[in-house]
Amino acid sequence: MNVKPDFSKNANQAATAPAFLSIWDMHAYYGESYIVQGVSFNVHEGEILALLGRNGAGKTSTLRAIARLADPEVKRGEIWLDHQPLHTMSSYQASQAGLGLVPEDRRIIAGLTVEENLKLAQIAPPVGWSLDRVYELFPRLRERRTQEGVTLSGGEQQMLAIARALCRDIKVLLLDEPYEGLAPVIVDEIEKTLRIIKDQGITTILVEQNAVRALQLADRAVILDTGGIVFDGTAAEVLENKELREEYLAI
Ligand SMILES: Nc1ncnc2c1ncn2[C@@H]1O[C@H](COP(=O)(O)OP(=O)(O)O)[C@@H](O)[C@H]1O
Ligand SMILES: [Mg+2]
Repeated sequence: MNVKPDFSKNANQAATAPAFLSIWDMHAYYGESYIVQGVSFNVHEGEILALLGRNGAGKTSTLRAIARLADPEVKRGEIWLDHQPLHTMSSYQASQAGLGLVPEDRRIIAGLTVEENLKLAQIAPPVGWSLDRVYELFPRLRERRTQEGVTLSGGEQQMLAIARALCRDIKVLLLDEPYEGLAPVIVDEIEKTLRIIKDQGITTILVEQNAVRALQLADRAVILDTGGIVFDGTAAEVLENKELREEYLAI
């Protein structure tokens, strides 16, 4: 009989610090399609958590559910951010509560310059970083501030999308495949900014297909497979565990 090892048993060993963001028994559906099937994990304040798994494992759906977007619909479970019950909130309220989602397609607004894209994020409270602070982190955006956002390179658009999230007063940054389609030197640059953002006290969930790069940056990792958690532990444990990498990450 082929019994798969249960790597999720590590769950409570790595989690010594108290949870800052806590997802508990979350079940979410696209219409009748049951996709997020009882997901629980904790994120500690100030850490970078890599959320990994093969294509179709449910990573984007999990991020969308945490961000309280309409799809997929969370029908059961709880999501707590710094003592606030996100599961009772709309996506707008979750954003107000400090959640910043950078979706895979980046959503740069056409017809607006780089600076207008950033200013739009600051239109309603709670406002986060000033433009000066954002430009200090991303000097390239300052250089291109009068350029239309959608005409930027892929890497610059990713920087703009992250910068825009920081223009809101966020506690947690949710990044969906920020390295996708980018050259390794640009990934280096984005990675450097993610370290600085971490140093400023922001907590990050990083979803990436580029698992090795994500694990090199992350403190801990959670691996999803068919809508459930199959591993919860340190990033180093994943990098050291060949069986786990081959089974769920194909690396
Ligand atoms: N809008 C949708 N309607 C129905 N099913 C969806 C929708 N979006 C994603 N799915 C399904 O949910 C599963 C998980 O998808 P997703 O969360 O995008 O995975 P990942 O981000 O890990 O690649 C897949 O089987 C996918 O086909
Ligand atoms: Mg995805």
